[in-house]
Amino acid sequence: MSEKIRLAIVGVGNCASALIQGLNYYAQGGDTIGLMHRELGGYDVTDIQPVVAFDINARKVGQDLAEAIFAPPNNAYRVPDIDLPATGMKVSMGPVADGAPPHLARQMDIAAQEPVDVVTALQDAGAQVMLNMLPTGSAKAARLYAQAALEAGVAYINGMPELIVCDEAFARTAEERNLPLIGDDVKSQLGGTILHRALVETMLDRGIHIKKTYQLNYAGNTDFDNLVHRGESKEKTKRGAVEALIPYETDVSAAFAHVPNMGDRKTARFYFELANFSNAPIIVDAKLEVEDSANFAGIAVDAIRCCRVALDRGIGGVLTSASAYFCKHPAEQISDEEAVKMLEEFIQGTRER
Ligand SMILES: NC(=O)c1ccc[n+]([C@@H]2O[C@H](COP(=O)([O-])OP(=O)(O)OC[C@H]3O[C@@H](n4cnc5c(N)ncnc54)[C@H](O)[C@@H]3O)[C@@H](O)[C@H]2O)c1
Repeated sequence: MSEKIRLAIVGVGNCASALIQGLNYYAQGGDTIGLMHRELGGYDVTDIQPVVAFDINARKVGQDLAEAIFAPPNNAYRVPDIDLPATGMKVSMGPVADGAPPHLARQMDIAAQEPVDVVTALQDAGAQVMLNMLPTGSAKAARLYAQAALEAGVAYINGMPELIVCDEAFARTAEERNLPLIGDDVKSQLGGTILHRALVETMLDRGIHIKKTYQLNYAGNTDFDNLVHRGESKEKTKRGAVEALIPYETDVSAAFAHVPNMGDRKTARFYFELANFSNAPIIVDAKLEVEDSANFAGIAVDAIRCCRVALDRGIGGVLTSASAYFCKHPAEQISDEEAVKMLEEFIQGTRER
């Protein structure tokens, strides 16, 4: 039996809910539905073990993690027919910083407890990998936790669109301390970014000229409530992930709307104005509907295991292939076709990072 991977969770929102439910789903059955790798680098998906979790919501702090994931305003897809035993681990009060702006504070009360010292909490829990799932735009809080990870000697994955792993000074320190990094902003399993990029790559391969394209995303979860108020960084990582593939100037937009009665079900629309042979016009208008948070967790389980594999191998700093394949804004943008090959080489151990 392989060792456990000791995970620190930052933000017990919908993505954390999908992750915890999914880990229980796979622990209670042997299937591989919805996984890129049941086993990765010697670790089964069920070897991921949350050992500490931070939040600031009064309904979550102090609760067992298995209960906190269902506290409002969380509304992620509920996996049917699984048991969710208590983890025995209570959610810790984190430093609030800019994690509760007025538009989010109206959805929750901030817990009254004193914030814990994050570095000490990470060390006491023996955490090995931190997964950041804070609300988009909470730049100060995100930096605070990222810094604490480095101080506590913990590998770091940035799931949100704050440019932390792409910050050269941060990456250098992590490399000096032999701590692996993956970031920035998770590219969901089959989400708006990967589908938009796949459509663009097919069009470019076939000589189709892209005149204009947009991606419109809407859902009813807290993430989208937040994105309509402070989604600038997400707009940049989404738009940048598409622009990076197109070798000429094109008009690209990414936008968000909050539709409360859609819950965690996200819709993404992809619109293209194109030209094929002899500049003849084409319109492509495609649509994706997906459980948003499960889409994040499907990537997180591989990113967490890649960090642990790098720790085992003594490799610190940015994991180039994992960042390119798993994130919207890696330090180095690489086509998904190339990045997945590089990632498999990294997992096999024939590529350093
Ligand atoms: N498919 C996806 O859902 C997806 C994909 C890529 C990236 N992301 C990003 O992942 C992040 C998390 O998404 P989500 O849907 O889980 O969001 P969410 O709003 O449901 O969860 C965020 C959690 O962070 C907590 N929080 C706020 N400030 C905090 C602080 N200072 N310390 C500790 N906890 C704090 C909130 O109380 C909440 O529980 C977002 O930035 C989102 O853009 C999501």
